[in-house]
Amino acid sequence: MVEQIQRLGVVGGGLMGSGIAEVGARAGLDVVVSEVDDSAAEAASSRIRKSLDRAVRNGKLEETERDAALGRLRFATSLGEHADRQLVVEAVAENPEVKSSVFGELDRVVTDREAILASNTSSIPIAQLAAATERPGKVLGIHFFNPVPVLKLVELVPALVTEESTVDRAAAFAVDQLGKQAIRAQDRAGFVVNALLVPYLLSAVRMFESGFASAEDIDNGMVLGCAHPMGPLTLADMVGLDTVVAIADSMYAEYRDPSHAAPPLLRRMVDAGLYGKKSGRGFYNYS
Ligand code: CAA
Ligand code: NAD
Repeated sequence: MVEQIQRLGVVGGGLMGSGIAEVGARAGLDVVVSEVDDSAAEAASSRIRKSLDRAVRNGKLEETERDAALGRLRFATSLGEHADRQLVVEAVAENPEVKSSVFGELDRVVTDREAILASNTSSIPIAQLAAATERPGKVLGIHFFNPVPVLKLVELVPALVTEESTVDRAAAFAVDQLGKQAIRAQDRAGFVVNALLVPYLLSAVRMFESGFASAEDIDNGMVLGCAHPMGPLTLADMVGLDTVVAIADSMYAEYRDPSHAAPPLLRRMVDAGLYGKKSGRGFYNYS
């Protein structure tokens, strides 16, 4: 019988961390979310509240359940607040140095040596993050999909040194406790889904960049012609263009395949602060 997780930690309360914290709290877990400062913690809290309100409006959640979920969430600005957690999911920006530093610090502060340290990384090798800790057997990737409250998939990504019991506990957490469906992926940049998805998104950017078709026509082509729920440029805006570039860079570093090279336009947009939906402008305007 695999021990249930009762105390969950989430590091980073951005797009993904807030979704992971929300599904954790809705599943009855006690959740600590840590952010870089008070205003980022406040933004994470309000993102989760809005998403819970939306679920109430859509008749998916009772008001009492929303209030109970909110009561199970606590926001912090120090990694030290994760000391008593049984599982911590890191969801900070897709940057190997920042993530490794978070893993090193989590390893020092989380007191239960059996506790699992997981990353929601899209593409960074889990082995690199495990190497920043003195408990590499307890480190793995638990990769959620955006929007977390809606999409069912979780990729479980053990590194070469991850203990099988860690994978079993993570699977029980994701499937039995959160109600997700899991697939298992090798520790290779992009895992299963992004290895397929990101070259497609980058191709759409190249198509737009070359003047081949307008953003609207590229997106409508895939929505109306292939029944995708959203077109690739809308999806890139939703993921975050900074995140798409970071994933492309990790995959390019791993495979040296030109299909993973970030097109210059995408990099320039990120340089200009056009991150997509989260910053108000990407391929489309959201303000
Ligand atoms: N948070 C919570 N719920 C949300 C939501 C959000 N951000 N966005 C939409 N929803 C819910 C809505 O409330 C609605 O729920 P009900 O059925 O209960 O009404 C449902 O999702 C459908 O939403 P909408 O009717 O507003 O809009 P839609 O039908 O266009 O769906 C969508 C929106 C769910 C985002 C859909 O367009 C979609 O699935 N798009 C593709 C998303 C995708 O491919 N994600 C993967 C990104 S890649 C990734 O995550 C990995 C990585 O590492 C980068
Ligand atoms: P985001 O930019 O929305 O959020 C990142 C958050 O981390 C920010 O709020 C930032 O303040 C916070 N942060 C940075 N350093 C921190 C630290 N040391 N301690 C605490 N908080 C810190 O990014 P996101 O889209 O949520 O992506 C987070 C991770 O999830 C990335 O690894 C990304 O690749 C992965 N991911 C993203 C998506 C997506 O569609 N956006 C999907 C799956 C996985």
